[in-house]
Amino acid sequence: MKAATAASQRTTTGAPPMTRETDIGPVGAAHVPVMVGEVVEWLRPRPGARLVDATVGLGGHAAALVAGAPGARLLGVDRDPRALARARERLLPAADRVVLRHGDFARLRAILPEVGWGEGADAVLLDLGVSSLQLDDPMRGFSFRAAGPLDMRMDPGEGRDAAEIVNTWPVQDLAQAISRYGEEPRARAVARAIVRARPLRTTEELARAVAGVLGHGKPRRGPGPAGYRTNATRTFQAIRIAVNEELDRLERFLVDGWAALRPGGRLAVLAYHSLEDRRVKDAFRRWGASCLCPPGMVACACGWKAKVRILTRRPLRPAPSEIARNPRARSARLRVVERLRGA
Ligand SMILES: C[S@@+](CC[C@H](N)C(=O)[O-])C[C@H]1O[C@@H](n2cnc3c(N)ncnc32)[C@H](O)[C@@H]1O
Repeated sequence: MKAATAASQRTTTGAPPMTRETDIGPVGAAHVPVMVGEVVEWLRPRPGARLVDATVGLGGHAAALVAGAPGARLLGVDRDPRALARARERLLPAADRVVLRHGDFARLRAILPEVGWGEGADAVLLDLGVSSLQLDDPMRGFSFRAAGPLDMRMDPGEGRDAAEIVNTWPVQDLAQAISRYGEEPRARAVARAIVRARPLRTTEELARAVAGVLGHGKPRRGPGPAGYRTNATRTFQAIRIAVNEELDRLERFLVDGWAALRPGGRLAVLAYHSLEDRRVKDAFRRWGASCLCPPGMVACACGWKAKVRILTRRPLRPAPSEIARNPRARSARLRVVERLRGA
């Protein structure tokens, strides 16, 4: 659906529509891979290399990576089986060099031996968050731009859906998730409104419950289509992160994700949320530290040795021209490390 002007999208009650913008960008935007030039430049795919796109999505970054290196092979992983079907189509021209696996990047070290890459890869990419394929399908329930079931699962075959969370979680757990994952200042009031509105079955009903507390939001400014930035954005983002356990999965990967690389191999992570980026930054610092003993120890007792070299002291940001073309890129942060030889 293309985003339209506020006037042409009045609801039957005359209220401004609540369905204009998602948590990662304007609705209807095609999924354009973010910072694709930078990703290819930093991961520097070489002929014959083993490349992993652990969030292959619709295959945009993966296509650029395989195009950059004749003879390189690519493993694409995604939790979403429908994304894999789309990636398969997109990567058809390089089908003989591409393997796709349904899975969770938190398990990447277990997936690699399944494809004969137990020693690790030369490049790994994580492009966090959701894709337009997920956001733009009302039946998946990720966005409030059209009525759909409260699902929000990236893997529709796994775990509890959004309806279960909004209809069963105690008010304090909901408030905590909405505050923590959505950074919603009025999380407690929103959580109470959700509990009062139960049972909630659709995205529209959830957006209405939130709007009952926060209103319908201000007109949207900046790049992208005109319209209203609904105040349900933060709550939807929070519920989605909770449904998919996004931070837990990332943390599990970050325990020892460096070990998915061969010596000299590079890992790039694109994050769109400060909660994710902070975890990536802290993990990279830990992996790159020469000792993990608490400060004040006279001699090192941990035996830790640095595993990686941090290649991006500060996160790389998209160029203003990319943000103008693709507003979804505006919050992107790219961090890259290289596994040390001998680590
Ligand atoms: C931003 S999209 C990736 C888009 C992709 N780079 C492209 O160019 O088309 C993020 C993808 O990561 C997937 N994903 C999120 N968390 C995941 C996880 N823990 N394991 C595997 N895939 C995950 C989502 O299903 C989604 O398809």
